[in-house]
Amino acid sequence: MTPATSHPDGLHVEGIALSAVAARFGTPCYVYSRAALTAAFAAYRDALAAQGMAGRSLVCYAVKANSNLAILNLFARLGAGFDIVSGGELARVLAAGGRADKIVFSGVGKAREELRAALQAGIHCFNVESASELLHLNEEARKLDVRAPISLRVNPDVDAKTHPYISTGLKSAKFGIDINAAFDLYRQAAALPHLAVKGIDCHIGSQLLDPAPAAEAVDKVLQLVDRLAAAGIPLEHIDIGGGMGIQYRADEPAPAVTDYLAPVLARLAGRRERIILEPGRSLVGNAGLLLTRVMVLKSGEEKNFAVVDAAMNDLMRPALYDAYHEIKKVGAGDTATQSVNRWEIVGPVCESGDFLGHDRELVLAEGELLAIFSAGAYGMAMASNYNTRPRAAEVMVDGDTMHLIRRREDVTELFALESLLP
Ligand code: LLP
Repeated sequence: MTPATSHPDGLHVEGIALSAVAARFGTPCYVYSRAALTAAFAAYRDALAAQGMAGRSLVCYAVKANSNLAILNLFARLGAGFDIVSGGELARVLAAGGRADKIVFSGVGKAREELRAALQAGIHCFNVESASELLHLNEEARKLDVRAPISLRVNPDVDAKTHPYISTGLKSAKFGIDINAAFDLYRQAAALPHLAVKGIDCHIGSQLLDPAPAAEAVDKVLQLVDRLAAAGIPLEHIDIGGGMGIQYRADEPAPAVTDYLAPVLARLAGRRERIILEPGRSLVGNAGLLLTRVMVLKSGEEKNFAVVDAAMNDLMRPALYDAYHEIKKVGAGDTATQSVNRWEIVGPVCESGDFLGHDRELVLAEGELLAIFSAGAYGMAMASNYNTRPRAAEVMVDGDTMHLIRRREDVTELFALESLLP
């Protein structure tokens, strides 16, 4: 669940005490472990190798989970491809040294400029989500005199059984193309002169702990792939999306990558198509934590509040999904100045939804540091400047070294793009 370990001087990430990170870079601060990121990527490699698929698979990291350049660069060095959803993410991947020919471009609405930029960069594949997008892409490719490599993202109508906001594979979702309509659309795509039909894509949701829905989706996808091949439209690759869940609660273990992927990969073993995966959360989620300091302890009649210097603008998941993140004291000693020990961990933002944890049993003192775990995915990536709060610093720990990989924003930068009326 966590890249942190206990030591006499408090929690460490690799060889660095979190108190030293706070002393040097301040709080709130995201802290990542290079070793944990590397291990998470290796787990995918190993799971694929175990099924004999190392040579015919590509792990495309879903950039949206955490798009810091240092993290993208690390994955690029490890040989990853990338799953992007915007022109902005394309620019980031290229700036971080990612290879264009290992990029897949997902998303239900891609602007013309984004299509053009990706065509010019020469990406591996566009995951097309509508009939209109096929036509837009054919037109943009014609203007550039190229052929656009495409997959159709099909919606297999399976219930991923996850939070409704992050479930994408049901018929009622805005995502993908109804799998029953996809065959006809493939025929149309194959007839368009500036498209090259390359593959098929499917992503049913996120934070999935049970592989059964993903396996069910793969079964449906394979039926279509075989039907297409029989109709003279052979596909080169099958993209099974991302979605593998991680452990957020100490008492609720998540499956290992190998176990989660086993039923999915078993269905793909022995086939000729190349396999693409788009994991996001499972590569970065448990490689990062959010370090924050208790500013104020406030005991009320019904509840006790620990107001910390991180807030919903830094980590939106609790406010948005009622998500649970483990919270632990960084300090080792019992520095309590208060006897109460059940706390609402809240930020300073002016919203009742601004909480990071409910009813947490902790012995707290003002000024002490807390670590909010499993914050490497969809943490900083979803942070905002609400309440004109500068976004947190980001630090990567590598053994005994800490690297500042994004400095804390400055308040003046937050309104530098605004102008007064004449
Ligand atoms: N591929 C596609 C097309 C996606 O839409 C997503 C995530 C992924 C891959 C990566 O999925 P992952 O492996 O990370 O589950 N903000 C939410 C999660 C939103 C996920 C959106 N799509 C959260 O904090 O839980």
